Amino acid sequence: MKTFYDFYRNQVKLSFEDHPFSTAPKHVWVICRFQDQWLLTKHKDRGLEFPGGKVEKGETAEQAALREVFEETGAYVDKLNYIGQYYVSGKGGTIIKNVYYAYIEKLEDQPHYYETEGPVLLSRLPDSLKENKLYSFMMKDEVLPQCLKIIEEKYL
Ligand code: GTP
Repeated sequence: MKTFYDFYRNQVKLSFEDHPFSTAPKHVWVICRFQDQWLLTKHKDRGLEFPGGKVEKGETAEQAALREVFEETGAYVDKLNYIGQYYVSGKGGTIIKNVYYAYIEKLEDQPHYYETEGPVLLSRLPDSLKENKLYSFMMKDEVLPQCLKIIEEKYL
């Protein structure tokens, strides 16, 4: 388990165990790869980030991951792999989020992308995300580099 602080100085606990904080988390985040590129979305307020969001009533976390990826990027997931789970203790409560790695099989243009401006493909993620105003706060703590390390070792 790794403990650190996020961009807003909220405490984050990240683990690569099998659902250590909750078997039914309410949030998901999906690190997506399409061909040889990372697939992100441009959130209208937060900026560039990997797709994700809240698990809806009656949905499993995996179903929410597939839905959020499609809604925010128009992508169809070929394979969804559980990577880990993190817990954020914020001022307004706590959230528990599953992180997945998804390989995308198809990207389809959509008439709208919900709260986002749709897909953004990048062959490389910038080295220093923290100072980069184009990127969402979610991309600016230790969750992303730690998860990318696992993804690179296991899947790339
Ligand atoms: P809506 O209800 O969709 O408007 O969003 P919200 O921001 O009010 O609620 P949400 O439950 O998504 O998140 C609550 C707070 O948890 C956010 O304001 C963040 O501070 C924090 N949070 C949510 N997701 C993440 C994340 O991926 N990483 C970190 N570090 N904090 C997060």
